Amino acid sequence: MRDTAATCSLPDSLLDWYDTHARIMPWRVSPADRAAGVRPDPYRIWLSEVMLQQTTVATVREYFQRFTSRWPTLQDLAAAPDADVMGEWAGLGYYARARNLLKCARAVVEQHNGQFPADHAALLKLPGIGPYTASAVSSIAFDLPYTVLDGNVERVMARLHDIHTPLPAAKPELMAKAQALTPSYRSGDYAQAIMDLGATICTPKSPACGICPWREPCLARKMGTAAELPRKLPKKAKPIRHGTVYLARREDGAWLLETRPDKGLLGGMLGWPGSDWVDATGSRPAGRAPIEAQWHEAAGEVRHTFTHFHLMLTVMRADLAGDPTPETGRFIPVSDFRPSDLPTVMRKAFDLIQ
Ligand code: ADE
Repeated sequence: MRDTAATCSLPDSLLDWYDTHARIMPWRVSPADRAAGVRPDPYRIWLSEVMLQQTTVATVREYFQRFTSRWPTLQDLAAAPDADVMGEWAGLGYYARARNLLKCARAVVEQHNGQFPADHAALLKLPGIGPYTASAVSSIAFDLPYTVLDGNVERVMARLHDIHTPLPAAKPELMAKAQALTPSYRSGDYAQAIMDLGATICTPKSPACGICPWREPCLARKMGTAAELPRKLPKKAKPIRHGTVYLARREDGAWLLETRPDKGLLGGMLGWPGSDWVDATGSRPAGRAPIEAQWHEAAGEVRHTFTHFHLMLTVMRADLAGDPTPETGRFIPVSDFRPSDLPTVMRKAFDLIQ
């Protein structure tokens, strides 16, 4: 399988580097263990790849450990109540991922006997599995020769080939270059090696070119352009939206909360009732309070940034007497309420009034 020429091929020099520099991750099978025949658990690979989209390895580690302690197998996750899974996901963001995670787990149990299919086309048909995840699971879990192209790999390809076309227009060219390099052997190790290279050596700022296994063939290094690549079109400024949330507590300590509708931002997550979030320029939207009470505005406000906008939230607070009936939401007894089940923006509102 390996090149026999005196100089290593590009994939081989990267794989040699990975053999000694692979990062240790809780879902990963080391190159030495793989060589000894240990196979990764497709459930753990899939779960980690879904979590790693839009989220750093450092953050994912903790969440991954908690998920896999609570739901060690795909069957365990598929059988979990929706609210428990959404609660464990709280704080990771991009909550459609969590809703699709559950749908996917249940689909694999129903359609594939609880085993992820070792087949790229079949993986692509599962909920929440797009081209990136299908390729990551195919290569890392099943050693099939599929190419992963995440932000790290885009940067490595743009530099290796000195490609100056800005992202996202450059994606097809970067994908073609990445595919041309993908070896038909050690596919799982190679996919992880190129991501590790991007994360630890070919970093966005100050890449460590001197110790890179690809320093000789790298065109951007030769041209002195590595630090400028990949080029990106300037990002559009995010608009500011405003809204109000209502935090009401009953005498017995129960909090008035709602489960947000499945569709839309923070879909399926727990949250405080409140107004819509709108691009208000003049007066701030108050919406309708979920219950009649003496409301007090909390000092300060909540600021939170989503993918497409910044949000500024006014926080209203009330202490309720007796056993009132709300117009929206439900009271969650203090014994069942975990602030960590709240998505970050809702958690910030809670923290503001502590
Ligand atoms: N980023 C996303 N998936 C990864 C993986 N499997 N290894 C390293 N970095 C990653």
